[in-house]
Amino acid sequence: MYICNCNGVRARQVEAAIEAGAATPRAVLRACGHEPCCGRCLPEIVERLRSRDRAPDADVRRTA
Ligand code: FES
Repeated sequence: MYICNCNGVRARQVEAAIEAGAATPRAVLRACGHEPCCGRCLPEIVERLRSRDRAPDADVRRTA
C-alpha cells in the first residue's frame, strides 16, 4: 500500500522510518529518500507518528 503517491513511498517504508526514529513527516519522507511534494500524504504520516506517541503538534504544515 502506497502512503505517498508522489514519491512511491509504501507503508512499510514509512513504518521503518518511524521505527528508526523519524519524528516528523518530512523526516519520514527524507528517511525514504524523498521530499514532500503535494503534502496529501502528510496527515496519514502524522497519524502513524501519533499512534506511536511521536506526534508532531496539530498543524501538519508546520511539521512537514
Ligand atoms: S502524496 Fe506525498 S507528497 Fe504528494
